[in-house]
Amino acid sequence: MYFKPLLYISNLLHWLLCPAYVFIRRLTRPFIKWILTRTTGLCELQRLCYCEPSGACRILGLEESLKNSKSVKVQKLLKFLDLAAKEKRLTAAGSGQIISKTVETICYVKKIHQGVHQPFNKLLGESVSVIWSLKQLLHDLESIRTTGYDSSNMEHEQKLLELWTLLMPMTELESRISNSWKDIGFQGDDPRTDFRGMGILGLENLHFFAKNYQEVALQVLSHSNHPKHGYSFAIVGINLTHLAYTLWRDGTAKTHVYNICCHQLQMPGPTLLHFHRFYCYLFIEFDKLWMSEKPPTIMEFGRIRSQFENHIRLLLANPNCMFKLNISVEHV
Ligand SMILES: *[C@@H]1O[C@H](CO)[C@@H](O)[C@H](O)[C@H]1NC(C)=O
Ligand SMILES: *[C@@H]1O[C@H](CO)[C@@H](O)[C@H](O)[C@H]1NC(C)=O
Repeated sequence: MYFKPLLYISNLLHWLLCPAYVFIRRLTRPFIKWILTRTTGLCELQRLCYCEPSGACRILGLEESLKNSKSVKVQKLLKFLDLAAKEKRLTAAGSGQIISKTVETICYVKKIHQGVHQPFNKLLGESVSVIWSLKQLLHDLESIRTTGYDSSNMEHEQKLLELWTLLMPMTELESRISNSWKDIGFQGDDPRTDFRGMGILGLENLHFFAKNYQEVALQVLSHSNHPKHGYSFAIVGINLTHLAYTLWRDGTAKTHVYNICCHQLQMPGPTLLHFHRFYCYLFIEFDKLWMSEKPPTIMEFGRIRSQFENHIRLLLANPNCMFKLNISVEHV
């Protein structure tokens, strides 16, 4: 699974072929589009909705097609949607109108009869909703991440103490400032300083993992306390928050996110819950890799982490990728 030469070769091919592919595509795209529109009578957006399987294939295609549109009206519309996401207006109450206005405008620009193409309206609306819900969620994640841990905030303190109780159900913490925090993998006697770069998002991820998948979290914690090849549970956990956040931020995780969204009953778009679950998946898989590598010291962390990241990126490059937590009982 982690066969290195193959990974290097595939990375190399990727870097060599991608620019060539992008260049050729850019040259031939307008021509191919013109031919297809002539022969099928459908515009690119319609072809994507009707011909691509639901999920990442279709939604990524639509996103790309809208982004490349030369229509000034469409570009204005995209700016409007970006702003709506930034101002968090895509709510249960607000998004219905925004989405139907968007579909209406696109149909007008592309000269599509809304009455004739009702399935198209619905499919396009759902995809638009997922794309901009993700953008909105990224703004939410950013504000949680930039909220630092604050000892005078009761909510933060409570979450931190609950994290202890969930991970150490048999042991009471003698005081808030205590050397015992090291038992769950913090660095010093006050975890506050360990959240630095990831802010309260690091704590929320750890808390979610321990609360919703307690059994697995305890198992991972016991691995991290291995006498020979242990690691710092909380510190590594916070580092994995960084990884999860980076993968969502740079768009790599879109395949997974778009695929899970269309496997739900209704498709309003991803929420914080999906981010937490993605994080739990990373933690569990990282622990598996660490335990299989049996590194002699924690100094190997950098190497194993980058090996892990490459592996995850490779999986996410597949448009059908959808991470599922591999545990017997799903509690959430
Ligand atoms: C996580 O670990 C990597 C590799 O050691 C490092 O480059 C990165 O800055 C760390 N991130 C955080 C938030 O600690
Ligand atoms: C889930 O994990 C178990 C043990 O770790 C493994 O035997 C099994 O093949 C895994 N299943 C999937 C679908 O990855």
